[in-house]
Order: sequence, then C-alpha cells, then structure tokens
Amino acid sequence: MSVTIVTGGQFGDEAKGKVTAYLSLRDEVDMVARAGVGPNAGHTVQYRGKRYPLRLIPCGFVQERAQLLIGAGVLINPEVLLREIEITGVENRIKIDERCGIIERRHIEEDSKGFLKKEIGTTGSGCGPANAERVYRRLKLAKDLEDKRISRLLGDVPLILREGIEKGKEIMVEGSQGFGLSLLYGTYPYVTSKDTTASTFLADVGLGPKFVEEVIVVFKSYVSRVGEGPLKNEIPPERAEEMGIVEYGTVTGRRRRIGLFDFELAERAVLINGATQIAITNVDKLFPDAAGKDDYDRLPREAKRFIEDLEDRLKVPVTLISNGPDVEQMIDLRREKL
Ligand code: IMP
Ligand code: MG
Repeated sequence: MSVTIVTGGQFGDEAKGKVTAYLSLRDEVDMVARAGVGPNAGHTVQYRGKRYPLRLIPCGFVQERAQLLIGAGVLINPEVLLREIEITGVENRIKIDERCGIIERRHIEEDSKGFLKKEIGTTGSGCGPANAERVYRRLKLAKDLEDKRISRLLGDVPLILREGIEKGKEIMVEGSQGFGLSLLYGTYPYVTSKDTTASTFLADVGLGPKFVEEVIVVFKSYVSRVGEGPLKNEIPPERAEEMGIVEYGTVTGRRRRIGLFDFELAERAVLINGATQIAITNVDKLFPDAAGKDDYDRLPREAKRFIEDLEDRLKVPVTLISNGPDVEQMIDLRREKL
C-alpha cells in the first residue's frame, strides 16, 4: 500500500504540476487522483519538449500507464475537461466521479463581476458560485448531465481507489491551489472557496486517512500570489524583474505578485498538512548557478544553506529540489533521507 498526497504550501503556483509529473514517472505510479477546487487551478507540465497548461487533468498524465481520476470534490467545467482530454489524449484512461459538481455559464458570469472579482480577485472560473450552489443543494452533478461525452467518463472514484489499494497499487493524490488560499486556514476572506489542505484533498477523492503514507508539501523558493490579499515580504515588481522573476497566472494571465520566502506561512502549512516531506521548486530562479545541476553536492553554497535552513526551521526533510522547468530537472534525495 502506498498513497502519496502532494499539496501546495503557499498561494498556489508552487510548481506542484511539475512535482507530480516527476513523481508519477519516477515512482511508476499506477493511479493519479486529482483533488482540489476545480478549474481555477492552472498547472503547467513541460515534458518531452511540449508544454501542457492544465486545469483539470492530473499532471501525472505523463505516466502513460497511470489510470487518471478526478474526485467528487473537484468542480468540472465540461468544455475545459473535454479540451484537455483531447490535447493529452487520455480519453481511455480517465474517470471522473459521478458526484463532481458542474460549472455552468452563469457561475462564471457571477464570478467575473462585483465583490468576487473586484474585492477578492478570483480567477473568474465560476468555482466560488458553483460551490455556494452546492451548499444550497441546487448544483447539477456530473451524473445529471445528458452529454454523452461526459457520461461515458463517469466512475466511482472512491471504489476504484480502494480496489487499487487492495491490489497494492502506487497511488498519488494531486492537490491544487495552496495552503494560504484555504477557506479555513488561509488569509480569509482573500481565499478560494474550499479548504486546500491534505485532509480535504483526501475527502475530495473519497479516501480515508489510514492509507496515506507520505504528504509532500511543495514550496517555491519565493512566494507568488495572484489576486488580492496579504503577501508578507512582498517586493516591488521592478525588484522581482531584477531577480529574473516575472510570472503570469496560467488561468488568468495576470501578473503574479512576488514576495521573499515566508517561513511563518511555511510552518503553518507543514503543521496543518501534516507534512512528511518537502519539495522545493524554482531554486534556479533564486540561485541561478543551481540551474540544471543533477547532484545536491554541486549546488551553490547559498542554495544549500537555504535548503538546510528550511529543514532546520520546518523540521521536515527536503527530499525534492527542482532546478529547472523540465520534468527531469529534479534532485531527488528521498533514498538518502528517508
Ligand atoms: P477563486 O478560487 O477563483 O475563487 O479565487 C480566489 C483566490 O484564489 C484568488 O486570489 C485567486 O487568484 C486564487 N487562486 C485560486 N486558484 C488558484 C491557483 O490555482 N493558483 C493561484 N491562485 C489561485
Ligand atoms: Mg498554477
């Protein structure tokens, strides 16, 4: 039995997509289940010279043997889903839970104006209004759709996962968003419409906690945030540019605000997710000489100091160090440290 959860420790965009893609290949994962809010997420996978910006399909799709699942907690925008299935070619190995909520045009319209858009700075993807409607018990679920293109994808995700566990399969749960955006533990009201920590991701896919072996919390070497809300250690855009850090949101195209690494936020993320491992990404942006190095010992001294400091303060081993955009650019310390 082996279930690994991957979660974001900041405000989303920690490069979880790359980490899950790497793990799915390296660990020969059999099943990848997407958890999290819905298509407000934007995950980018760069693999074999192609770039895949994904909002619903699990990034572990790069592992061709893996069965792909989308849990009941995840909201589905049918158009987004169908388009991504087409670009990734995963039609024959994906199942979505029949209880996934369906985003309709009116949810997107409501999310694109007024308080949500102006004060919170949502992604405008309709997730908040759809989740609100689910609480009102009026939301349409995937099984209510008459669209055959969707109904043939339906499955019982909790049952599929449970059968996988019984057969000893390697399972990965892919969270989305990040700790600081949690409706319960984030910077309320500047948050998303659901909790975004490991326990909720398990509920999203219908898996009990006793099966979980590892909780990998992903941090970027600095912090980025799109939309409104507090950002500790925020630096002016010009300073970020000097450091070579200019990022745009995958879903909205908005320029991301940038801050220096926030240890307090990271401590809370480790605490509430119950982290067993830490993955640190974009190390090459903070320490350009770290780019593409395939061995920890060859990293620049300052990069190693940063990583050691992280371990000292968070008391969790840093096991994965990402130092380039490609899936293969990853220093994997797991065997040494666990
Ligand atoms: P919503 O999730 O679209 O309702 O947006 C609420 C807040 O969460 C806004 O600040 C969004 O920019 C932010 N947000 C939601 N999903 C993501 C994500 O995947 N990455 C980064 N920010 C996100
Ligand atoms: Mg993103």
